[in-house]
Amino acid sequence: LKMGKPAKKTRDFVQKMKDTDKTIIFFYGSQTGTADDYAARLAKEGMQRYNLKTMTADLEDFDMNLLDTMPGDYLAVFVLATYGEGEPTDNAAEFWELLVAGEELPEFSLGDYEDPDKPLSNLSYVMFGLGNRTYEHYNSVCRRVDERLTTLGAKRIGERGEGDDDGSLEEDFLSWKDDMWKAVCDHLGIDYLTGSGGPRQATYKVIEHSEAEVQEFKKIYHGEHQEPKFMLGSRPTYDAKNPYAASIPVSRELFSDDAGRHCLHMEVDITGSGISYQAGDHVAVWPVNAEKEVEKLATIMNLTDKLDSVLSIANTDPTSTKLPFPVPTTYRTILRNYIDITAPPSRAFVGQLTPFAPSEESSKVFGVYGQDKEAFRINVADARRSLADSIEKIIGAGQKMEFPFDLLIESVPRLQARYYSISSSAKAHPTSIHLTAIVLEYQPDVAPDETIYGLATNYLHNVHDHINGEKVSAIKYEISGPKGGHLVGERGIKVPVHVRHSNFKLPRNSALPVIMIGPGTGVAPFRGFMQERAVDAKNGKKVGETVLFFGCRREDQDYMYKDEWPELTKDIPGAQIITAFSRQPGQPKTYVQHRMTEHKELIWDLIHNKGGYFYVCGDAKNMAREVNSKLVEIAVACGGLTEEKATTYVKELRSRGRYEEDVWS
Ligand code: FAD
Ligand code: 2AM
Repeated sequence: LKMGKPAKKTRDFVQKMKDTDKTIIFFYGSQTGTADDYAARLAKEGMQRYNLKTMTADLEDFDMNLLDTMPGDYLAVFVLATYGEGEPTDNAAEFWELLVAGEELPEFSLGDYEDPDKPLSNLSYVMFGLGNRTYEHYNSVCRRVDERLTTLGAKRIGERGEGDDDGSLEEDFLSWKDDMWKAVCDHLGIDYLTGSGGPRQATYKVIEHSEAEVQEFKKIYHGEHQEPKFMLGSRPTYDAKNPYAASIPVSRELFSDDAGRHCLHMEVDITGSGISYQAGDHVAVWPVNAEKEVEKLATIMNLTDKLDSVLSIANTDPTSTKLPFPVPTTYRTILRNYIDITAPPSRAFVGQLTPFAPSEESSKVFGVYGQDKEAFRINVADARRSLADSIEKIIGAGQKMEFPFDLLIESVPRLQARYYSISSSAKAHPTSIHLTAIVLEYQPDVAPDETIYGLATNYLHNVHDHINGEKVSAIKYEISGPKGGHLVGERGIKVPVHVRHSNFKLPRNSALPVIMIGPGTGVAPFRGFMQERAVDAKNGKKVGETVLFFGCRREDQDYMYKDEWPELTKDIPGAQIITAFSRQPGQPKTYVQHRMTEHKELIWDLIHNKGGYFYVCGDAKNMAREVNSKLVEIAVACGGLTEEKATTYVKELRSRGRYEEDVWS
């Protein structure tokens, strides 16, 4: 019989639940705040509608080996995001290690169970996962955790929910949660139907500060994520919670084509930051909302006069301490830096705006969009208008609509970073990270007369203009001035970034061949790979065959890094670039897959006979899938395998890490 391990009080969630009189705990595994928001929404709804005693918990804040001490009449709810290629979020890493990746029988705290194989038989739980269907490991974190909890004796009391970030996350969540509440009420012996809406209870209260109070503050936040935690004598670590304000010494337009597309090449200076990276990693860029969105929303909400006044927010529930952004700050900073007012509002939020509509007519429309999925999809979600434009479309231009600021911060998700595949190698560029991005601009199918501007890429385009003294970007972002987007002032423009490490890596043994498929911006990491192989070759290492399939529209318009490739390939023996142009005048539409067919013998030889690695980067929707099928086809044609065997062959390449994807939609 093992002795129970004493847990530090602050990390003991069961004790905390007992002390604060809670019976349901909502654990979240969140990278960018969505799972965290969902957990908070659930906790609040449970409290308001069903009078439940709820709390939320960041998985990394508590000792999860105390799960076995949860009383049977308590309930744990897990809201877990799956990240990248089936990985847990950073804050869930330790929990994942304990439950899934570690020992066959994890060491929980009590160590004395009726059935030693079922240490969690006292635990009841429910589960919602956030994933993205364009990835192969869709929602695998929640699935694996669910499976493990069950194996270890815990009881899931309702259906597991799964949301798809690529299409229907919010709707998946809304439809799962109604059934979930039914199951929870059953479990707790509460009458589901008695849950009534009641008046809205705010999650946060807004505290406006007087001039005198403002004078007393040591720090007012103007876009920083949190006070960096400096350990004496050690460097700060830069991550999603503490991005690095980097200068951008070089920004150029790689192309700007007839269709009006712009492609940016930027070099992020990391000198002296202690940041390290490898070719294949991602750089996250933290954008700000455009000034016109900030001002438009402020006008609608009648906040224009106090945009620069200082406020704090606090939780109305004193037992929850987490805030979505640091305070004290200003209204302007919240709208510009902290919450995502550029994306369309959620259906739940639109519904909540109903009582604040300026007319009966518009109130009805808010009500309908809040209830009717299809009407909401066509008129709000797919139209992709910003929050202010979505509201304006309903209430009419020039109309105002005051609604509580706390409702806004509670309902609008935090502004998120965008990821870019790093397009350099640290061996070639140890003090800079290169990124390659297409500036996003499009007309939605449901509103073809309107142009929507992607947030981060148009922000970067603005940064580009500031750096080069040009004016090519479409809209204005506040990126200069001491209270501008980013800690700017005299030191020049700084863009907050952090690096996310990935498994998309060259083989350790450089002598092995690599085949890279990267049409469009999918070429980004392969520029890094190519640089790396060139450095290796120059340093006398044996470097295997290096083949890049690149596709774009026209050789003379969007052939990225065209001038660099000859220079890079000349240093790598047997390196080649195979191009596919899809809109070359007078030539048939050609994609990278077509070129793969033409070079099938080469591909098969490198993969099958020479142990080569196969990489795909870029569009997740069609290209990546078609390339996969093409490789299966090649295995049939050149390896003489049956379709079934060829499929298994390619799957095995994947499971051995010899077929890697870095794809996005
Ligand atoms: P946002 O404001 O975020 O708008 C994007 C959203 O607009 C989309 O999610 C979609 O919902 C919507 N949308 C886009 N087009 C349409 C349309 N035609 N109709 C309707 N809705 C539409 N991008 C690069 O350019 N280079 C890279 O190297 C790169 N690497 C990446 C690596 C990873 C791992 C990931 C996840 C993404 C990568 N991306 C890359 C994509 C990048 O992160 C951003 O998604 C992209 O730059 C757009 O960001 P944005 O803020 O400008 O647009
Ligand atoms: P298109 O736009 O002319 O259809 C980079 O975007 C390149 O990828 C372009 O040449 C684009 O062609 C091409 N592309 C589009 N869809 C693709 C797919 N499913 N597979 C491979 N390449 C594709």
